[in-house]
Amino acid sequence: MGILDNKVVLVTGTGGGLGRVAALAFAREGAKVVGSDINVNANNETVELVRQADGEMTAVAPIDLTDPEQARKMVEEAVAVYGGLDVVYNNAAIQYFGPMPDFSVEDWRKTIAGELDIPFFVSKFAWPHLVERGGGVIINVASISGIIAGEIPPMIGHSAAKAGVIAMTRQLALEGAPHGIRAVTISPGPFLTPASDRDLGDNQEARDAITKKTLLKRFGKPEELVELAVFLASDRASYITGANYVVDGGATAW
Ligand SMILES: NC(=O)c1ccc[n+]([C@@H]2O[C@H](COP(=O)([O-])OP(=O)(O)OC[C@H]3O[C@@H](n4cnc5c(N)ncnc54)[C@H](O)[C@@H]3O)[C@@H](O)[C@H]2O)c1
Repeated sequence: MGILDNKVVLVTGTGGGLGRVAALAFAREGAKVVGSDINVNANNETVELVRQADGEMTAVAPIDLTDPEQARKMVEEAVAVYGGLDVVYNNAAIQYFGPMPDFSVEDWRKTIAGELDIPFFVSKFAWPHLVERGGGVIINVASISGIIAGEIPPMIGHSAAKAGVIAMTRQLALEGAPHGIRAVTISPGPFLTPASDRDLGDNQEARDAITKKTLLKRFGKPEELVELAVFLASDRASYITGANYVVDGGATAW
């Protein structure tokens, strides 16, 4: 018995660090997972890992979720696989960094598309299916950069987009409540994933500055984030909506 038995969970970005571990955790709790990513090979690896762990997962990839038509198609395919949808885990994102005033208009637009358009498009096209089901849960992955400014790396586009995700989630919660749809944000602090590890490279100074801002003086591990997602997706969290949960080793506590 899992706390997500028989729930159909759509997870975006399952080829990536946090998305892969989320897919494994949702499946472990009995969910039927539909995972999607622009990176088909990485996504297929996740499907393999989930199946090796006796979980249920289907892939819809490659999909570029910054394209609304592809996002719509992905949702329709996901719904068709298991005959409905209960949970949307909006995890996929791509962001660009740079200081003011050099951060280019192009990188600004790509960040807004990669971080704010994606969860809006997926939520928009999933919405009627959640309504049809009598309700469901949308969990949006934002960031503590949507709450506090971040110095390393300079993140003007990222912080604006993730603040947008937090605000959008409140609105989804308000408009979803009459339909039985809960909407919740999870805002991670620094987590070591293949993406962040690659971006930081051998810049030990940056790594140290980032972990120094946490109270626990270290990066989080993906496993330390996704258990919250599993709980929020479950019926045990039935009174939780409109809230933003930080999982940040205390980085926003001081
Ligand atoms: N790692 C961290 O420290 C951290 C901190 C705060 C917030 N987050 C957020 O957590 C989420 C996951 O981050 P991660 O570290 O696992 O990153 P990641 O890059 O490992 O994973 C993101 C996944 O999304 C996919 N993706 C990107 N653009 C896409 C598109 N247009 N269409 C479909 N798929 C696309 C990528 O291929 C990748 O597999 C993101 O929303 C990120 O902003 C991460």
